[in-house]
Amino acid sequence: MVLNAITNRKSVRTYSEKQVEDSTIKEILKAGLMAPSWVNVQPWHFVVVKNQETKEKLSIAANNQNMVKNASAVICCIADMNAWDEKNFSKVMEKQGRNADVRNYILSNPVLNPSLLGEYETLLRTVEQMSYAIGYMTLRAEELGVGCCIVGAIANELTQKDGEASITAKELLGLSDKQILLSLLTLGYEKEHTPTIKSRKNFEEVVSLEKIGKNF
Ligand SMILES: Cc1cc2nc3c(=O)[nH]c(=O)nc-3n(C[C@H](O)[C@H](O)[C@H](O)COP(=O)(O)O)c2cc1C
Repeated sequence: MVLNAITNRKSVRTYSEKQVEDSTIKEILKAGLMAPSWVNVQPWHFVVVKNQETKEKLSIAANNQNMVKNASAVICCIADMNAWDEKNFSKVMEKQGRNADVRNYILSNPVLNPSLLGEYETLLRTVEQMSYAIGYMTLRAEELGVGCCIVGAIANELTQKDGEASITAKELLGLSDKQILLSLLTLGYEKEHTPTIKSRKNFEEVVSLEKIGKNF
C-alpha cells in the first residue's frame, strides 16, 4: 500500500555489498515514468550508472558524498529541456490524441507553455515535474526493499558550483547543454537496518483552513 511506503521510506545512505538486480532497478524506473507531468510533457531522462569509476566521479561532483560511490547503482535524474521544443512537445500531445488546434493553443499560450516565458521559467517547470517522478521512484524502491537517497547537492547548472566537476559529470553521462543533471538517486540495500524517524514540522504549522493562520 502506498501509505506504508510513504510512512516507512527514509533516506538510506549506507549500503551492504548486495547488488540491486537490473530487474529491480527497472521496476523502480517504471514507477518514475508513471508520474504525472505538465501537459504530460515528461521532461526527463534517467541514466543508470553501475560502473564504479563513473560512480566515483559522480561522487566527487556530489560534494564527495560517499553514498554515491558506495551505492549499488545510481539513477542520474536528468532535466531534459529539449522536451519543451515545439516538435517534441507537440509529439507527446499528439500521442495523447490532442488535435492540431489544441496543440497550437497550448504551444502559443505562455501559461501552458513555459518555453515562451524564458529559460528560467522553463527550468522551474522542469524541476517541478521531475520531483514527482523522483518521488514515485523513492516509494517504489521502498516497496521493493531497496534503500535510496536523493542527492541534490551536486555540481550543476542550478548550484552553479564547481564548473569542472559539472562538466565531467555531463560528459560522462553524454549530456547536451540542454540536459541538466538535476539529482542522483542512489540505490542499495541498507547495511544495517535502522528505524524510520520522521522529523517533520507539526501539522498545524504547515496546514491552514481557508487562510494562513487558521487551524484545520
Ligand atoms: C531534492 C532533494 C535533495 C536532497 N539532497 C540530498 C543530498 O545531497 N545529500 C543527502 O544526504 N540527502 C539529500 N536529500 C535527503 C534529505 O536530506 C532527506 O530527505 C530529509 O532530511 C528527510 O529525511 P528522510 O528522507 O529520511 O525522510 C535530499 C532530498 C531531496 C528531496
